[in-house]
Amino acid sequence: MSANVQEAADAAIEPVSFVKVPALEPPTSLQQLIHDWQLIKHREGGYFKETDRSPLTMDLEKPQNEDSTDSTTVTRNQSTLIYYLLTPDSPIGKFHKNINRITHILQRGKGQYVLVYPDGQVKSFRVGFDYKNGEVSQWVVPGGVFKASFLVPNEEFDNGLLISEVVVPGFDFEDHTFMKGEDELKTLVGPEKSAELAFLV
Ligand code: GUN
Repeated sequence: MSANVQEAADAAIEPVSFVKVPALEPPTSLQQLIHDWQLIKHREGGYFKETDRSPLTMDLEKPQNEDSTDSTTVTRNQSTLIYYLLTPDSPIGKFHKNINRITHILQRGKGQYVLVYPDGQVKSFRVGFDYKNGEVSQWVVPGGVFKASFLVPNEEFDNGLLISEVVVPGFDFEDHTFMKGEDELKTLVGPEKSAELAFLV
């Protein structure tokens, strides 16, 4: 039920074999969906398609970099919407962060999210429709928090995970940062936890 990820039930991080060693191809049903909806491979892993970008724009003050007090004015679309799909051949969305909060809405399947906060706190929760067992179907990831995701096996969507993501202001690569390798993870969470999470970098 919880859209507040802090309240989502904690899940152990136990990736199944096809997450560690991806399949060669998606199952036929997911291949069909990728084809019909013209989803493309995402740099972070998985497949995606931007399905809406608000034609309205907004001007924002943005710090020139993370440590800077100087700001510049940037223009962004007011919102964007994507489909994002994980499949057995591309079962991981690698750690990245956005300066803006991102709203996630489950469409089909099951997965698991791992968040790393700037203070090194790690939060992991399952996404799915089995709310009685702690799965959530809407979740909002705060801005500035690293996020990774991986597939959880499921029969109802042929081992896939399909979600929608809404970003306000709209997505721009300038607002997006990939984690810089295992070293950055280790600095944030320490050596023990980083060994457990290294498959998501
Ligand atoms: N282009 C590349 N990645 C993304 C993303 O995550 N969202 C949107 N809207 N566009 C993108």
